Amino acid sequence: MPPMRVLGNIGVLARCLPAGPQDDANTVPHAALAWTEGTIRWAGPQAELPSEFRDWPADDAGGRLVVPGLVDCHTHLAFAGWRADEFERRIHGAGYLEIAAAGGGIASTVAKTRAASTGELLEHCRTHLAAMARLGVTTVEAKSGYGLSLESELRILEVYRELSRSGHRMVPTLLAAHVVPAEFRDRRAEYVALVIEQIIPRAAAGGLARFCDVFVEESAFSIEEGRRILEAGKRHGLAPKLHADQLTGSGGAELAAEVGAASADHLECISSQGIEQMARAGVVAVSLPFASLYLGVNPLPARRLLAAGVAVAVATDFNPGSAPSYHLPVAMTLACTLQKMTPAEALKGATIVAARAIGLEPEVGSLEAGKAADFAVIDADSVEQWLYHLRPNACVRTVRRGETIWTASGELPAIRFTSSPRPPA
Ligand code: NIG
Ligand code: FE
Repeated sequence: MPPMRVLGNIGVLARCLPAGPQDDANTVPHAALAWTEGTIRWAGPQAELPSEFRDWPADDAGGRLVVPGLVDCHTHLAFAGWRADEFERRIHGAGYLEIAAAGGGIASTVAKTRAASTGELLEHCRTHLAAMARLGVTTVEAKSGYGLSLESELRILEVYRELSRSGHRMVPTLLAAHVVPAEFRDRRAEYVALVIEQIIPRAAAGGLARFCDVFVEESAFSIEEGRRILEAGKRHGLAPKLHADQLTGSGGAELAAEVGAASADHLECISSQGIEQMARAGVVAVSLPFASLYLGVNPLPARRLLAAGVAVAVATDFNPGSAPSYHLPVAMTLACTLQKMTPAEALKGATIVAARAIGLEPEVGSLEAGKAADFAVIDADSVEQWLYHLRPNACVRTVRRGETIWTASGELPAIRFTSSPRPPA
């Protein structure tokens, strides 16, 4: 039998099961978790740990909170250069779209990303992923979209493939339809044709992407262009996703429902009709509180979405413009304060609901037998305490596929002994 691993003396185990309301994180007090070969075999009250698991050496969670490994279901991970200058210009009153129209914004990151070597892009991604792992993040969706040519979009997706091969749990998304690149400014139909006829087929044939995303916005792509691009993606086996209704309400949520998207993301300006249609079509809403915060716009109406039966994920949108942070736990706190989601809703939003948004619900996002042994040990005694007490990092251990990929240096004292730790075998 392969070695069994047990984590005992868990103060609260938040299982985040797929069924049931988003407000129920399925917590179990005084819990234990058992896994082998990267897969969870058992999760539940420590007193009920089956005898077959009792002989294995147990690690001690010190009475802490244990949650599923966090899933960041919306990032623009591969980019070069930052845009702190725009951050300051926006403080002085310049608009995001105004900066973009003057050649800044996404276009400036495209220029820097094209100029970076593949080695540099890989190195940046690795640095960010290591920092994310320290925060408890074990799965990362990553979009292309700063290449905007056949060659440079494929190169970004190849960077993601390389990262997956080196053990990162990544979900790659093709976002060739991020904006129309400068060289196609007066020939946008030609760019749309390039995306449909070349970039999508090549990305799909190479197995380089799982999803096809489109930024549907006045400054980017129209509803009609978005529909054509997403339908082309579907024909090539790429499931649709959208950046929808972010800066203006343009019917992006309705399009997401129409094409059967896995998720519609942003949604700050979603219409009532969009909410109803997403609920009916089962599209996950991905909230991106950093983007709302940095651009100074009202967040998406999370309460109305949840009341209508739409599952609401929480992600960082990590990118150098609208959301220059990969700190998913802070995004979760902002989902509570700005979007009025409960801590349990924010946690499920960054675990099981996020997994659903990227097609990984059968594998990750909850702590139950058969799922991946991806989890984080959090130095707090409840989900509420964790998300309320904002700290640089409350995560003391991150485990992915059953292997510890991060542990806080130095032994932290147990915060609360809810039951006696099991003696080592
Ligand atoms: O999700 N909305 C479009 N794309 C990104 C922003 C990218 C950028 O500003 O570089 C977003 O907010
Ligand atoms: Fe985004």
